[in-house]
Amino acid sequence: MSDKQVFIFDTTLRDGEQVPGCKLNHKEKLKVAKGIEALGVDVLEAGFPISSPGDFQAVELISKEIREPIICALSRAVEADVKCAAEALKHAQRPRIHTGIGTSEQHIKYKFKSSPEGIIERAKAAVKYAKSFVEDVEFFAEDAGRTDNVYLAKVIEAVISAGATVVNIPDTTGYCLPYEYGHKIAFLKEHVKNIDKVIISAHCHNDLGLATANSLVGVEHGVRQIECTLNGIGERAGNTSLEEVVMVLKQKYKSKYFTNINTQMLNPLSRLVSESMSMPVQANKAIVGENAFAHSSGIHQDGVIKNRLNYEIINPLDVGVDKSQIVLTARSGRAALAYRAKEVGYELSKDELDIAYRQFIQLADRKKQVESYELETMLSQSFRMVNV
Ligand code: KIV
Ligand code: ZN
Repeated sequence: MSDKQVFIFDTTLRDGEQVPGCKLNHKEKLKVAKGIEALGVDVLEAGFPISSPGDFQAVELISKEIREPIICALSRAVEADVKCAAEALKHAQRPRIHTGIGTSEQHIKYKFKSSPEGIIERAKAAVKYAKSFVEDVEFFAEDAGRTDNVYLAKVIEAVISAGATVVNIPDTTGYCLPYEYGHKIAFLKEHVKNIDKVIISAHCHNDLGLATANSLVGVEHGVRQIECTLNGIGERAGNTSLEEVVMVLKQKYKSKYFTNINTQMLNPLSRLVSESMSMPVQANKAIVGENAFAHSSGIHQDGVIKNRLNYEIINPLDVGVDKSQIVLTARSGRAALAYRAKEVGYELSKDELDIAYRQFIQLADRKKQVESYELETMLSQSFRMVNV
């Protein structure tokens, strides 16, 4: 295992699918799972089998049909959950049980009405029980983001000695600042015995818009698995967005880290997830939003037409977008008009462009955006197409 590899753990079908309105039937779930497999993820979290008979069957189906990634199923630190997860995973080529419990003072007192010692006992017992079914057991310390680091280190050390192969440090409530999350991982690296024998995983939520930043700072301090979802869907404000972390690693950390993700599939798969879950992607979403490669102001359009790199830090082809768009609005300039006119078959001289621009700007002022067919209609009234 290379120390440079960051494993991608996709939880679109578990943390993502549990969002109201995002529920999929088995056929849809399998179709998305096949897409996620083709994307090249290392781990696919298929569901939470004890939560419903439907989810149990979905995890079972995915375990039978999806052979490349590790198939993971969620369970609480409860024997019946763990047993059910193991059962649902029994056909998986490489099964992983993901079990855990809340470790913050808030969760210990008000969710479990337990004690710090009691939680450690339950955590160890769940991991040991999961180990009786599968070799690969991931432990999550829910609300680790708000857990005292000294206590968290004790919990993590205990579950490693009980046999955990991966330790997940979730910022469940999205409360950490990047330096706090980074410090937490560094603290565990320094204080937990045998931490180097396991994979540290980041599972960050986006309540303050910091999930991507937190996951990446985690990587700088020793995280080697990122839990994320396509389009960043998930509880409340969502989970870390898969496309964002993967592209940041590719664009900014090329010489330090790599993932197995086939980035050209990011946009097609984002659309599949959005359409199957009826969950629109915001237009200005990084990497997969409709406007992520659209240029609309005159200054930017002129710059991009001269040289794409003036305003683009990602090649659209790298993420499965055919080409960037020059969008015609009342803020567009002559360069954009000439460029789009050429696309629809009009090569305009300088004088023609001046005339066309005056007509265009009047049209554009009446509209949010001028579409190709409207441009064609406008140009056809005054000019001749080339080669016609
Ligand atoms: O956010 C969280 O803590 C979780 C765990 C169940 C891993 O989703
Ligand atoms: Zn979560």
